[in-house]
Amino acid sequence: MWPLVLSLALAQVPPLGADAADPLLCATTEEMAKAAGYAVEAHEVRTADGYLVRLERLVGGRPGGQPALLLHGLFCASDLWLLRGPGAALGYLLADDGYDVWLMNFRGNRYSARHTTLNTTDPSFWKFSWHEMAVWDLPATIDHVLAVTGWRQLQAVGHSMGNTALLAMLASRPQYSRKLALGSLLAPVAYIHTFRVPFSHFLLADWRHIQSLLQRARIYRVPPTTKESCSLLQKTCGDDKPTQDLCLNLIQTLYGWDPQGLNKSALPFYLSHMFAGVSVDTIAHFAQIIKSGRFEAMDRGPEENFRRYGSTRPPAYHLQRIDAPLALYYADNDYELHPKGVMQLAKELQNVVSIERVPETAFNHIDFLLHKRVLSLLYSSVMAVMQRFRHSIAANISP
Ligand SMILES: *[C@@H]1O[C@H](CO)[C@@H](O)[C@H](O)[C@H]1NC(C)=O
Ligand SMILES: *[C@@H]1O[C@H](CO)[C@@H](O)[C@H](O)[C@H]1NC(C)=O
Repeated sequence: MWPLVLSLALAQVPPLGADAADPLLCATTEEMAKAAGYAVEAHEVRTADGYLVRLERLVGGRPGGQPALLLHGLFCASDLWLLRGPGAALGYLLADDGYDVWLMNFRGNRYSARHTTLNTTDPSFWKFSWHEMAVWDLPATIDHVLAVTGWRQLQAVGHSMGNTALLAMLASRPQYSRKLALGSLLAPVAYIHTFRVPFSHFLLADWRHIQSLLQRARIYRVPPTTKESCSLLQKTCGDDKPTQDLCLNLIQTLYGWDPQGLNKSALPFYLSHMFAGVSVDTIAHFAQIIKSGRFEAMDRGPEENFRRYGSTRPPAYHLQRIDAPLALYYADNDYELHPKGVMQLAKELQNVVSIERVPETAFNHIDFLLHKRVLSLLYSSVMAVMQRFRHSIAANISP
């Protein structure tokens, strides 16, 4: 809930004078990859319900490598996979290792806020949660990547909500299990009734009320940070700013207390990418599954449920239907996802090839992307498991 508050606040702030800003502050995924020396290709995929979602492909890797599709988390976008820079960010590491890397942007973030007929000023544009990302965005994207590359199977790597959508998609459309050589799930969010973010429970308890207040105020989205709010971040969270610790504390309160894991000097840069815009319904859907403890579609009331799902109750996602191989990675100090939630998920899945706890007690939810030693603590092992499921072209290319 706190990112909602922060991001709404930042979006309202008037522009300030220029500061000696990091040139990559607020840069797009494409700008960052180019600055790091990677060629980038932008793709736009049209979903069956008319949304236009954007993908960036790192063309730096060896041509013809197995496609790896990277799925970002809540509030974020494709750029999170590049923030730690060459040699440390998973997007670059996979490209260097010869994968054909595709970075996805789910509907509603700053790169994917487009639709064939709906304007983003239209409230009906924002009537989606991660359920629609799962059943519309992901299948269209996977089919696009396979069609362009000629491969029959790709690998997927998700963080947080990226995994939520991937699991919901595989459960709702079991035929997609066959298109997945391996799913590597960093913080696989499905059972999150053990959500531990401090002070969040009173907000969650009263979520329906908050939602109706937002609706009355005609707020349907959490807007992305703008150039103006980026310069504010530099002035608030930069080195030698007295308020830097406030910024650090905000991240720690949200994701888990681990001040040693994060490079404080990079806070303005990180924060300028961590709020890329999302629909209020996406947050509402998470609030619902935190409360219910069930992994199910969003409850939109009996009538709308019936229209969308064909039943008055929101349907559960049947995890037992998934037979794609999945590797699960979790951390002790992840405030969003308690290890208990990972164990419950693992029990319901039929093809878990590995479950790994990050060997660092303080590792938190955002450390999966930003930790100073994320390569040695996590990615080296993620890439070793991915290697086991990596096929040669000959075995996998479509006839
Ligand atoms: C959306 O609506 C706004 C305001 O009505 C308008 O300025 C803008 O051009 C529209 N955008 C598109 C893509 O139609
Ligand atoms: C920390 O971030 C700053 C600013 O982005 C960067 O110059 C420095 O190299 C980073 N240090 C480490 C250890 O990554």
